[in-house]
This record gives sequence, structure tokens and C-alpha cells, in this order.
Amino acid sequence: MKIAVILGTRPEIIKMSPVIRQLENQGETYFILHTGQHYSYSLDKVFFEQLKLPHAKYNLEAGSGSHAEQTAKILIGVESILRDEKPHIVLVEGDTNSVFAAALAAVKLHIPVGHVEAGLRSYDRQMPEEINRILTDHCSDYLFAPTPRARQILIGEGMPREKVFVTGNTIVDAVYQNLEIAVELGSSLAKLQLHPRKYFLVTLHRQENVDNPARFAPILEGLDRIASEFNLPVIYPIHPRARKMMAQFGLEPRSLTLIEPLDFLTFLHLENDARLILTDSGGVQEEACILKIPCVTLRDNTERPETVDVGANILAGASSQKIVECVNIMLEREYNWTNPFGDGKAGERITRIITGAEHG
Ligand code: UD1
Ligand code: UDP
Repeated sequence: MKIAVILGTRPEIIKMSPVIRQLENQGETYFILHTGQHYSYSLDKVFFEQLKLPHAKYNLEAGSGSHAEQTAKILIGVESILRDEKPHIVLVEGDTNSVFAAALAAVKLHIPVGHVEAGLRSYDRQMPEEINRILTDHCSDYLFAPTPRARQILIGEGMPREKVFVTGNTIVDAVYQNLEIAVELGSSLAKLQLHPRKYFLVTLHRQENVDNPARFAPILEGLDRIASEFNLPVIYPIHPRARKMMAQFGLEPRSLTLIEPLDFLTFLHLENDARLILTDSGGVQEEACILKIPCVTLRDNTERPETVDVGANILAGASSQKIVECVNIMLEREYNWTNPFGDGKAGERITRIITGAEHG
């Protein structure tokens, strides 16, 4: 059996790493196809190096562009490689343009698709990720739902029960496999002159926030207010999209510490020691919940409502006032919730299911 693992962005590399590790452990025949959607060292290669992943056999170098341009380039490139390689299954993870384009190319060639992290819904079709995840789910033959809630959503949309497997989220595997190493490295905080629980950590990069000054500006104002009200550093490893839009809109946050995007181990360490995390990232909402660090989500909705239900996360939207209020609410809470995303064996489960070593 030949397996194609297709990925293209930072979160896909991180969340697919436990599956790749398991494919290696089982001695399976597989290859990695990188779409090249992310190409900067700090969004791409650093994760291959740090997570000790094998090189991609192919890189389409699709790069940046409009949604149609990017999706179309990946669709054409993936189709051509799948025609040559003829894998028995294609595995994708998440909700980016790379994921949807790869799933569409595969299903049209009658190659079964396995979707890792299936069944997430924000119910906000303004988000490109929502369109990508719905369409990818509906192209897939193996739907790896991270939680029972995601499974229910898929079944509610008419997916045959036998195609849906609750596996947990591979981000738990990635956190458990790397946290100890991250903390042992130890020097991350010192290098940034930070002290445990004495800083806030921010990530903000989603199109609906940073491409819209009517949201980006008040969010930055809210973050500035947090820095001054608590008199603590607010560290923001800034995604290139956000950096570009900040310059374009002439936004200049006064009190934030802007740094380059971090490698996974350093970022994990910073998450683990933060007083609180503010984010619009999907993966970071999950990691905060797993690490028992309170999270304020800078969005109006989330496709990870499990984090809100267990008390680990709160939705602040883009109002500066609400952001400050939500930070205060979360700082009052007790951080004793249970992680809803599984036991850290999702990669193993997914691999065993597709290779026939286990039946759902
Ligand atoms: C993409 C995903 C988003 C995911 C994010 C993970 C889609 C629709 N969006 O958003 O769901 O949360 O990845 O980080 O697939 N750029 C660089 N270097 C790179 C890549 C991008 O500088 O390696 C800059 C370019 O200016 C580019 C912009 O970032 O135009 C946006 O990149 P793009 O891949 O379109 O989307 P992301 O914002 O990264
Ligand atoms: N991450 C990282 N360095 C950073 C910011 C994030 O390694 O500077 C990791 C983070 O630990 C998480 C993943 O990137 O696993 C989340 O990716 P991102 O926020 O880009 O995408 P999303 O999850 O929103 O799709």
C-alpha cells in the first residue's frame, strides 16, 4: 500500500508530524508532497528540521496568491503527481487551500482521501477555512474526527457512519511528544528576557482579522491596553501576513513586543509558561487548552467550541473593551479543565486505520 501525505502550511506540518512518525515506525510505503503554500524558513523548513521529518519528495512551490490562483496551482500540481505515483490513499490535515485542493485532485482521480481533523465547523462562511473544511470533508472517504462533537456534525451532514472515526486530535500527540524537549531546552524565556507567568502571548494572522483595519486596529488597541493595565510584556510572534497588513494600514501598536515567527519548541515553551494566551489561531486555541493555559480568542466564533465548553477559552471578538474584559474573566478562573482532544495517540490510530491494522 502506498500513502501520499500532502501538506503545505505550518499547522499541517506540525499536526501531520505524529502521523508521519507512525508511518515510519510501521515501515509503511509513503511519500510527502509539499504544496509550497508556506515557503519562508520560519513557516516551513524549521518545522521539518526540528520535528525531524523526512524531506518532501515533491514541492510544488505554489507560493502565495489569490485564493483561486493558489488553489488552482495546487490542484494542477497535485493531480499530475498523483497520476504518476498512483497512491492508494491521500492524507490531508486541516482546512487550508492546500488541503482542499489536494483532496479535490485526489477524489476526481478516484483515490480515497483521509481527512485528519474532520468535522470542525465555525458556521461562518466568510472564512476561507470554513469553505475548505466543508468541501474537504465531503471529498473524503476516511473522516478522522478529533472529538465526538465533530463526529456528530459529520453524521448530521449525511456522512456514512462507517467513514467517521473519532481519533483525538494529532496536536495532542505533537504537544506530548515535544513539550518535555521544549522545556528542557530552557533558554527560550531567558533569551527574550521573560519570566514564567509574567507575560501574555499573542498570535493573530487570520484573514478576517488582519486584512480588515476595522478589526485589526481595535484588536491591537485591546492588546496595547492589556500591556499597560497589567504592566506585563505582550509578546507577538508575527505571521508575515499580519506584518504586511500592519504596514499597509499604518498600524503601530505602542506596547507590543513584535518578534519573528518562532520555531515549534520555543513557541510551545512560551505557551506553557504564559500567564494567558490571546489568539485567532485554531491550533493555538487547542494547545492552550491542552497545556491548561487560559485563552482569549480574538474571533466572534470558533470551530473548537470544546475549548469554550470546558472553560479553557472565551470569545472576545475584535472590540478592545471586550478583549480587556475577557482577559479579566479568564484570569479569575481555575485552570482545572480536562483536555477534550484525546490521549495523544491520534497519529497511531489514524495510521492503523488506513493501513488496515485496525478497524473503526
Ligand atoms: C494560511 C491558511 C490559514 C492558516 C495559516 C497558517 C488558507 C486559506 N489559509 O493562511 O487557514 O491558519 O495558513 O499559518 O489556506 N507569506 C510569507 N511566507 C510564507 C507564506 C506566506 O511571507 O511562507 C505571506 C505572503 O505575503 C502571503 C501571506 O503571507 O500573501 C498569506 O499567505 P497564505 O498562504 O495565502 O495564507 P496564510 O495567511 O498563511
Ligand atoms: N506556531 C509556531 N510558532 C509561532 C506561532 C505558532 O510554531 O510563532 C505553531 C503553534 O504551536 C501551532 C501552529 O503553529 O501548532 C498553529 O499554526 P497557525 O496559527 O499558523 O495556523 P492555524 O492553527 O490557525 O491554522
